Amino acid sequence: MIVCVCNNISDREIRQAVDLGLSSMAELRRDLGVGTCCGKCASCAKQVLNQHLESK
Ligand code: FES
Repeated sequence: MIVCVCNNISDREIRQAVDLGLSSMAELRRDLGVGTCCGKCASCAKQVLNQHLESK
């Protein structure tokens, strides 16, 4: 599923980034560009991020 349409980032890519050590929205923004355009994906991206962090 695509989370960030503007930057074409999927939930899978967010989880992979977390597996590589990212742990905050600021890092996702910096490394993947998530939420840097329209910002509509921020809450969904945060949910994917937090769920994956909790599942570790
Ligand atoms: Fe992510 Fe627009 S959908 S910035």
